[in-house]
Amino acid sequence: MPSVIVRDRKEIDKIRQACRVAADVLDYMARQVRVGITTYELDQMASKRIDALGAESACLNYRSGQKVFPCHTCISINEEIVHGVASIRRTIQAGDIVSLDVVVRYNGFIGDNARTVVVDPVSVETAFLVQATREALHHGISFARVGNRVGQISHAIQRFVESRNLSVVRNFVGHGVGKEMHEEPQIPNFGKKTSGPKLREGMTLAIEPMVNMGSHEVEILPDGWTAVTRDRQMSAHFEHTIHVSRNGPEILTLCKN
Ligand code: MF3
Ligand code: CO
Repeated sequence: MPSVIVRDRKEIDKIRQACRVAADVLDYMARQVRVGITTYELDQMASKRIDALGAESACLNYRSGQKVFPCHTCISINEEIVHGVASIRRTIQAGDIVSLDVVVRYNGFIGDNARTVVVDPVSVETAFLVQATREALHHGISFARVGNRVGQISHAIQRFVESRNLSVVRNFVGHGVGKEMHEEPQIPNFGKKTSGPKLREGMTLAIEPMVNMGSHEVEILPDGWTAVTRDRQMSAHFEHTIHVSRNGPEILTLCKN
């Protein structure tokens, strides 16, 4: 039986505060995206904003096996899916789609959110991909209700995406979030309605569909982090941290600015 973590009111309030910071930073970063700026500059701006808000990046020095993540945020462009590494040599171009992923620690609690920003002009197909991924997230969130199974979120996202002739990434999944960035349960963006644990009041979850224009297959670049589509077609990513409340899903990373 997979474990689930249920938070009390005080903890949820702290996660809510961390999420408010994460949402502020993501929104700020999204507003800086423009032709000619480097991903390094974007990451530095986010770092300063995180500092100014009294928080800390949960990505910087994040360990996965032997690897240590070198940036404050993840910036993934076009065929890059997630975990893109910022660089002074990577400049944003017209027609790019830029996936920004911000995870902060604030007073010991985590907020996690991501968004894909479009740098016009993009093709109709690309705009459709990005919009469908945003909608897939909100469709998934609507199933995050007490008594439902995690699989109902997963299944809803997969159905939504595949009915639009797009594909969902399998190699990365959403997750519980709270005191650590990755907690139980895993929240795949595909699968059966009957799979996974039942949702309980007080769970806090990061739901994050990664959607590809072509095949769902993934490859990791030689930097050890950047995940790209195997066919090098575009990919988009949206993520919110939500609270499973008795009144339904509460999105904690909505930007209030
Ligand atoms: N939202 C991403 C995730 O849940 C953030 C990972 S940041 C990392 O996996 F760089 F630290 F990996
Ligand atoms: Co996440």
